[in-house]
Amino acid sequence: MAGKIPAHFIDELLNRVDIVDLINSRVPLKKAGKDYQACCPFHNEKTPSFTVSREKQFYHCFGCGAHGTAIGFLMEYDNLGFVDSIEELAGKAGLEVPREGRDDSGPDYRPLYDTLDQAARFYQWQLRKHPDAGKAVGYLKQRGLTGQISADFAIGYAPPGWDNLIRQMGRSDQELELLRGTGMISEPEVDKCYDRFRDRIMFPIRNHRGQTIAFGGRILGDGKPKYLNSPETPVFHKGRELYGLYEARKALRKIERLLVVEGYMDVVALAQFGIRYAVATLGTATTTEHLERLFRSCAEIVFCFDGDRAGRDAGWKALETSLPQMRDGREARFLFLPDGEDPDTLIRKEGRERFEQRIIDSTPLSSFLFDKLESEVDMASLGGRARLAEQAKPLLGKLPSGLFREMMHQRLAQRVGLEPGQLGNRAAVESPRPRPPVRNSSGARQMLSPARRAITLLLLRPELARITDLPYEWRAFRAPGISLLSQLLEIAQNQPNLRTAQIIERWRDKPEYPHLEKIWSTATELPTPEDGMEMEFRGALQRLVEQQREQETTQLLERVSTGDASEQEKQRLGQLLSEKQKIADLHKRSD
Ligand code: UTP
Ligand code: MN
Repeated sequence: MAGKIPAHFIDELLNRVDIVDLINSRVPLKKAGKDYQACCPFHNEKTPSFTVSREKQFYHCFGCGAHGTAIGFLMEYDNLGFVDSIEELAGKAGLEVPREGRDDSGPDYRPLYDTLDQAARFYQWQLRKHPDAGKAVGYLKQRGLTGQISADFAIGYAPPGWDNLIRQMGRSDQELELLRGTGMISEPEVDKCYDRFRDRIMFPIRNHRGQTIAFGGRILGDGKPKYLNSPETPVFHKGRELYGLYEARKALRKIERLLVVEGYMDVVALAQFGIRYAVATLGTATTTEHLERLFRSCAEIVFCFDGDRAGRDAGWKALETSLPQMRDGREARFLFLPDGEDPDTLIRKEGRERFEQRIIDSTPLSSFLFDKLESEVDMASLGGRARLAEQAKPLLGKLPSGLFREMMHQRLAQRVGLEPGQLGNRAAVESPRPRPPVRNSSGARQMLSPARRAITLLLLRPELARITDLPYEWRAFRAPGISLLSQLLEIAQNQPNLRTAQIIERWRDKPEYPHLEKIWSTATELPTPEDGMEMEFRGALQRLVEQQREQETTQLLERVSTGDASEQEKQRLGQLLSEKQKIADLHKRSD
């Protein structure tokens, strides 16, 4: 069976399918110039930034950064694996997928899937035909489920007795081996085996294609364990699967939002009340793999937890796991239920509308994060706010770069009473994505640091050094280029007749020489008009002063938060912060 798919076949496949046709069959595209556009299916937007290029056979969203080939699109949009995407495309193109050699893609699990599907059908059949079925049906009815919803979720019944399934499906050694492989039998001793699930309501767990991969079995009434689950098998990995995702996809044309709840019964009860977008993790915390899967299905995730301490802790864990996934366009919110309620009990009490209102009113990730951290510090004190910054920084650092991350930094800065740049983690504030290279020859201005810009201007016009009342407070600033700038200024001031080449010559034996040469050789192309140079030079130095203050503020905040700050340092910090505040107030008034 399945071997590796040869690379040349994938090339050929991509030659044969047109990405525009493929995407257009799922997301209607509009022609825009030589490309095609639509509102991005991977994030919520009102104006189209999703672009498909026939020429490049590539899609790209300028909003959320999603991009890829036809294969990548199917993987993302149809939630398929790599091989399945290829199968799908090959089917469209009328090609047979060839396989290299034999079996380097791993063992063939189809017999396991077949066995699990058969078991699921067996249990469903038992729910209708077994002499004890009335008891099981009665239990489901008592929990408010209709036959329709039970059928949608393929709910079944494992009848009482030790070997119903084994007698039905394990008559040969080979069949027994398959039952073993799927985790459907228990074997406490060699040569002793019986059905794992007995006298339980059976919830099949299905993968994205609807194949059964495992079961959860609930006892009827009280008893322990309340739920019994399939063990991990080659086709079932608990930390990856979400109960109800397949059913949600089947019930909804487009999933707008997913609600993550804790239990099987929560998912089913919500569906019973018309909320078809609930999924459950299988008794585990939300994992990164869960989140990847969730966000591949839709852009909005609402986590639902009990309102008690344990629920809040679980919510916080989910938040921490979510942070790295929060690309722009994605949204995560948190819904904490009243004490003692779960979604199943609550929706029965208050109905769909009020429950959905709770979902709509749920707490955004940003508020949950800040509310929790702020509740743990004294926001009225400087030290408390410094601690808030210290606690929040590593969390915000987990966010992928983008607008959301910047907004979170801004919000933190606001709460702490600083500018985002003052939080001491510039790399975290600025996008680490490389900027597109800007060529000097094109006349476009490069993004230069203020130090570099000041050095450049000084090399172009050494007489700038003689301007009176230049800002100098930046000299204590620790950053690349500062000591060079300060030496250059000194030379240019003391020896007003030196020309640039001569100034540079003083550095020949110093490590900075190649830098200076390089700056000089590119500086001639700076587009600054003659009369703007003084202003720009002053501006660069002023910017350095500000950066120096930011740096000093951050260092002092850190010392205050660790309790190492002297009285003098605290005073200085107070002074820096109040200056900052005055400037901010000025800005506000002028708005
Ligand atoms: P709950 O006990 O909250 O489940 O466990 P529930 O869905 O509300 O159950 P009902 O309403 O009493 O029927 C939440 C989830 O934790 C896992 C199951 O996945 C369950 O759905 N769990 C719970 C187990 O795996 N084993 C257990 O014994 C209990
Ligand atoms: Mn419950």
